Amino acid sequence: MSKYRVVLTGATGGIGQALAKALAPHAQSMILLGRQAQALEKLAGELSGSCQVAIVCGDLLSQETHQQLQAKVTDLGGVNLLIHNAGVSDFDAFENQDPAIIKQLLDVNLLTPLLLTQALLPSLKRESGAQIINIGSTFAYIGFPGFAAYCASKFGLRGFTQALRRELSGAGIVVRIFSPRATQTDINDQRVVAMNQALKTAVDTPAAVAQAFMQFLPKTTFEARMGFAENFFAILNQLLPAIPDGAIAGQVKTIRQFFRKKDAS
Ligand SMILES: NC(=O)c1ccc[n+]([C@@H]2O[C@H](COP(=O)([O-])OP(=O)(O)OC[C@H]3O[C@@H](n4cnc5c(N)ncnc54)[C@H](OP(=O)(O)O)[C@@H]3O)[C@@H](O)[C@H]2O)c1
Repeated sequence: MSKYRVVLTGATGGIGQALAKALAPHAQSMILLGRQAQALEKLAGELSGSCQVAIVCGDLLSQETHQQLQAKVTDLGGVNLLIHNAGVSDFDAFENQDPAIIKQLLDVNLLTPLLLTQALLPSLKRESGAQIINIGSTFAYIGFPGFAAYCASKFGLRGFTQALRRELSGAGIVVRIFSPRATQTDINDQRVVAMNQALKTAVDTPAAVAQAFMQFLPKTTFEARMGFAENFFAILNQLLPAIPDGAIAGQVKTIRQFFRKKDAS
């Protein structure tokens, strides 16, 4: 594979910035996508000594942003590494979750990667050894209380990854999924941070996630999950789900303490 020509969504986020910095020395070009112009410009400035950097500032829920991205890909002579990293989360009792938030979660985390992939496939198909890497989560494998909609989006993303990987086998494009466990970024609000502490959940730094991602990148494995215990639990969940059912049932009371307090009125 010649040097990577990268499209990275969610480049302004905790994991996105770490990925961009780790990838830059191995990249010919990078297109960084996010919604914060200043953060994008700052990051682009930091990386411009390593590779050609372009930014697309816009909301992934807007068709205009997709068109701007496609135009930028054409300007930079194509893409051979598409990383769907942008994501949103919301932790709460499912019955209290705002339907608009549920829709946004599914749109950003699931529908957008599908539609962007479809739009960029012609460009990816022109490259030899092109890759699409979806950023999953431990919650793409384990359904967890308070994250029903988020888990639905990430399980869906994993299903998409597997199906498209099989559909494109022999077409020269590899479709893979890389799943961090809990990581210190703004996606987790104070309630989630406190819950992770209460449950003694292991939490990684974005730099550690980027390091593991760089190890995954040159391999050909379909998927990678971070964390030995999380890996083991994911396999157990698939083979013998009653065991995680029991373990999580023991945590539910603690988890519920961190749900949003319902308006008493
Ligand atoms: N942190 C964790 O515990 C954890 C664990 C497992 C998996 N993940 C996954 O890792 C990925 C990165 O998350 P993170 O932890 O780095 O979170 P983060 O710091 O909150 O970053 C999220 C990124 O997604 C972008 N984004 C969200 N909605 C968008 C929209 N509508 N249009 C354009 N960009 C949008 C954000 O852009 P703005 O800056 O403009 O908002 C930001 O760049 C996500 O897919 C997440 O599900 C995270």
